[in-house]
Amino acid sequence: MKDLEEILKQMRRLMRLSLGIGALLVVVLALKFNLIDLSFLHALDEAEVVQAPVADTALYGTLDEQSGLIVDKGLNVVKANCGACHSTFLVAQNRLTRQGWQDLIKWMQATQNLWDLGEQEAVILDYLEKNCAPKSSGRRKSLANVEWYELNE
Ligand code: HEC
Repeated sequence: MKDLEEILKQMRRLMRLSLGIGALLVVVLALKFNLIDLSFLHALDEAEVVQAPVADTALYGTLDEQSGLIVDKGLNVVKANCGACHSTFLVAQNRLTRQGWQDLIKWMQATQNLWDLGEQEAVILDYLEKNCAPKSSGRRKSLANVEWYELNE
C-alpha cells in the first residue's frame, strides 16, 4: 500500500515536471519562430533614435507617409514630441503662423500637460513655420493693371 502511494506520488511529480518542460518548449519554439513579438523591448531605444536629426536630406520636401508631414529639418523632433498624445496628422491638418503655433504649444502646455520643449521648441517652430504655414489665400489675387474701358450707352 505504501509502495503504491509512493509510486503515485512519483508519477504525479513526473507529470508536473513534463508539463513544465512542455510549456518551456512551447515558449522557446514560439520565440524561435518569431511567434512572440518582443519588439516592445526596443520601444525605449527607438524613442531616442527618433529624436535624432533627419539625415536623409535627399527626401526633403517629400511627404512622410507615416506622419502626414513634409520631410524637412526637424521633422523627427516634431514627430517625437508632437505625435505622443495625438496623431501627427492632427498637426499636418493645421496651418498656422509661427505665432499661432507658439500659442497652441503654450495652450497645450497650460492645459494638456505638454512638457517643456526646451531647446527643441525653436527647432519645432522653425519646422512648423516653414512647412505648416497658412496657405496663401484661396481667393485669386485682385486684378492689376486692368485697362478699363468706357461702356457706351
Ligand atoms: C501631452 C500631450 C500633447 C502633446 C505632447 C502635444 N499635444 Fe497637441 N494636443 C493635445 C490635446 C489633448 C489636444 C486636443 C485634442 C482634441 O481636441 O481632440 C491637442 C490638440 C492639438 C492640435 C489641434 C488644435 C485644434 O485647434 O484643434 C494641434 C494642431 C496640436 N495639438 C499640435 C501639437 C504640436 C505641434 C505638438 C508638438 C509641439 C503637440 N500638439 C504635442 C495634447 C498634446
